Parts: sequence; C-alpha cells; structure tokens
Amino acid sequence: MELKGKRIVITGASSGLGREIMRRMLSAGARVVGVARNTEPIVREFGEKGAMAISCDVSDPRQLDAMLEEAKGLLGGIDIFFSNAGFGYYGPIGGADWEKIDKIFKTNVYAPIYTLEKLTEGGGTEPLTFVLTISGLGKMVLPGFTLYDSTKFALDGFVRTYRMEKPRNVKIVPVYPVALFTPFFKKAGGNDTPMPLMARQSPKVTAFIIEMGIRAGVRSIYPSLVFIIRCLLARVTPADVLVQLVEYPRFLAWKKRHGITEKGSD
Ligand SMILES: NC(=O)c1ccc[n+]([C@@H]2O[C@H](COP(=O)([O-])OP(=O)(O)OC[C@H]3O[C@@H](n4cnc5c(N)ncnc54)[C@H](OP(=O)(O)O)[C@@H]3O)[C@@H](O)[C@H]2O)c1
Repeated sequence: MELKGKRIVITGASSGLGREIMRRMLSAGARVVGVARNTEPIVREFGEKGAMAISCDVSDPRQLDAMLEEAKGLLGGIDIFFSNAGFGYYGPIGGADWEKIDKIFKTNVYAPIYTLEKLTEGGGTEPLTFVLTISGLGKMVLPGFTLYDSTKFALDGFVRTYRMEKPRNVKIVPVYPVALFTPFFKKAGGNDTPMPLMARQSPKVTAFIIEMGIRAGVRSIYPSLVFIIRCLLARVTPADVLVQLVEYPRFLAWKKRHGITEKGSD
C-alpha cells in the first residue's frame, strides 16, 4: 500500500511506539493526526512537520466520538487508523479493585473495539485499514501482568472472530510487539519493573517493521523473529513453561522489594 497522501490517525502518538509510528508515517508523506490525553509532546515534536493533534482520553466513548468527528473533519476521511494507545499494570492480582479492572479494559479493549465499530457503522464502501497494537502478551502469559495479559488476549480473540464477519472494505491488521524500550514498564510497575528477558526491541525498529508490513499488505505483523520462533515452538513444546521458569522468580523478587507478601502488603 502506498502511504503518501494517506489520511492517518494514530492513538498513543505522544510516546513510545505510537510516537515512532507517527514519525514514520509523516516521513512517508501521509497526512497524520496524533491522539493522546496530553498532546503537547506531539505538537512539540511533529507540529512543524505538519502533524495535527487531538487530545482525547480513549477510555471515554464521548471523547472518542468527538475525536473521530474532529479527525474526519481535519483529514476529510480516514484511510488508516492505528489503535495503539494502551497501558499495563505490573503486580499481583487480587484485592478486588473494580476501578483498576475497569480502567485497563476500557482503554485497552473497549476503546479499539468501539472505535472500529464507529468507523464502520452504517456500512459504506470506503477502504479502511485498522491497525491494532496487541502485544506478544496476546499470545503468551507472563507473571505479574495478569490483567494486562487478559486485555491483550481479549483483543486477539476479537480480531480472530471479527475477521470472519467483517465487511469486505475493512482490513484489520493485528500487531504483536515484544518488550519495547519505552516508558511502558516504568508506568506499569515503577522503575524496577523487570522487562521480559526473552525478546526485546527498540520502538524505532518495531515501527519500521510495522510500516513495511502495511506497505506489503500483510495480514498480521510479528515484529520480532525471536517471537515468531517462540510461537512456532509453542505448538510442539512447553515453551510457556520455560519462560515462567525464568520470569516467575523475577516477579517474586519484585514483590519482595515492594514488601508484598502472599497475604498482601506488609
Ligand atoms: N512497551 C512494550 O513492551 C509493549 C509491548 C507490546 C505491546 N505494547 C503496546 O504498545 C502500545 C503502546 O505502548 P508503549 O510501549 O508505546 O507505551 P507508552 O510509551 O507508555 O505510550 C502509551 C501511549 O498511549 C497513550 N495513552 C495511554 N492511555 C491513554 C488514554 N486513556 N487515552 C489516550 N491515550 C492514552 C499515552 O499518552 P497519554 O498518557 O498522554 O494519554 C501514550 O502516548 C500499547 O497498546 C501497549 O500495550 C507495548
């Protein structure tokens, strides 16, 4: 797919992976609107390159409605939508905290599903490519990330089912990045959140591979070769068990540092 002149919206464009996707799309000659709650970093970094920014908390459907209207008004339509905003929690499950569960599901799961439905409601024949940042954790489990993992598994299930019923003019492209060097882990559990050892990548490289995948028109994007090999191995070996042998002790050490015992905080 040629990207020059395409009308593109990217959520989570102020930081990490979304920021690098934004950079690449602008370089490719696309017309781009970046979305985040705090748009100041988008304007500061990309304003002079012609990027537009809309402030929106994607966990609120009214703000999503308003953002989509504004983006369509600014661009005259949307050819590619990157649903990328998301966050994680690192820590033990338990405590029956409804607010916490609600917040992560609203942001990571409800927002992309609702956005796609809004973009396609009423039918229409205009082509739409909906690129959805899932995660390697939509395919594998990692201790400490129970809630986050469950949101990404939900998205993976959504994509697989949606593909069976979707309109012909809509293409959905799930992306499964591995651990990225972005502020994600720090935000999830503090400075000492262990980054998974198995596969790590820079957001720049990931964004480059995403761009290549979209240009080539692939169905799904797996930006890490290591993760592709892991997925193949998982079909014939207990690959997840091997990951747990390494990652579970690191989670226990993090809990100990944070004074969290099996019965709760000290
Ligand atoms: N980092 C990783 O290892 C990794 C691996 C696989 C997948 N992912 C996925 O990649 C995506 C981007 O993560 P990242 O690593 O780039 O994290 P990041 O650096 O923390 O960036 C997150 C972005 O999402 C925005 N955002 C968060 N909550 C939002 C909300 N309620 N409304 C609107 N925007 C919101 C943030 O901007 P504001 O705070 O200003 O709103 C920011 O621009 C996420 O979906 C994440 O799950 C990350």
